[in-house]
Amino acid sequence: MSRRGPSHPTSTATDVDFIEDTPTMRLKSRSLKAECKKIGFVPTMGYLHEAHASLIREAKKRADAVVLSIFVNPTQFGPGEDLDRYPRDLERDMKIAGENGVDIIFHPKSEEMYPEGYSTYVTEETLSRGLCGRSRPGHFRGVATVVLKLFNIVEPDIAVFGEKDYQQLMVINKMVSDLNLDIEIVGSPIVRDKDGLALSSRNEYLTEEERRQALAISSSLVEAREAIAAGERSPRKIREMISKDLLLHKDIRIEYVEIIDARTLAHVKEITPPVVIAVAAFVGKTRLIDNAIIK
Ligand code: PAF
Repeated sequence: MSRRGPSHPTSTATDVDFIEDTPTMRLKSRSLKAECKKIGFVPTMGYLHEAHASLIREAKKRADAVVLSIFVNPTQFGPGEDLDRYPRDLERDMKIAGENGVDIIFHPKSEEMYPEGYSTYVTEETLSRGLCGRSRPGHFRGVATVVLKLFNIVEPDIAVFGEKDYQQLMVINKMVSDLNLDIEIVGSPIVRDKDGLALSSRNEYLTEEERRQALAISSSLVEAREAIAAGERSPRKIREMISKDLLLHKDIRIEYVEIIDARTLAHVKEITPPVVIAVAAFVGKTRLIDNAIIK
């Protein structure tokens, strides 16, 4: 069943189609294609903020119709992670989507995405191993699986992902290439608050004091970028520089600080662009990631 935004009980969006089931979504995509419309797709887990808005605008520039999915995907959360408390606000999401030009919101139900007895998963076996894949086993299997399912339902021409989740972007790119999907994957730059903090739905969990300490993540990346621009080529020295900065803050616990080849995600022995400086750290109980892409 497809509904216009306003007929949704809590909607304040104006002219966004709200679709909750797969057959209707597929029908809608096929009718757009029959009209030779290019479909841009932005998959999200909701709780939209300015970074999502920038993905939507990027898709809008490149396509005739934009589909935004909102689905908190259970298979990408490990035991003890924040699936149950992951922030949700559908009403606000619909408003932001409408204001930024989304044409269709696809909001499937978990029972439809993963019915009882569901048993098929997609595993990328190289790029997903290190970095976040090491501390979150199964995470990228869940991401690749849901993204492939969403691609099969929405049938987009292009799909836009944020560069903040750099490893995710690379895993999706690899899946698209390995499985011969005819979809263009577009990476969109990190969006930051005025003070530098990379936007993330999980910033919501931070106390005021934790948020203040979290700024060390982006500021240490800026310093690292400057050191590299000034000629520093040792990954060890850059990693030490960042770690030293972060460890000055009592609530920060570093998960990793890595310097990797931007294409293979392998560790580099010497910094020769393109590389990515990738950081994952807990600030209090909240796990944040950020990166600097050095081109
Ligand atoms: O980046 C996200 O929000 C999620 O990992 C994605 C791509 C929507 C898959 O659930």
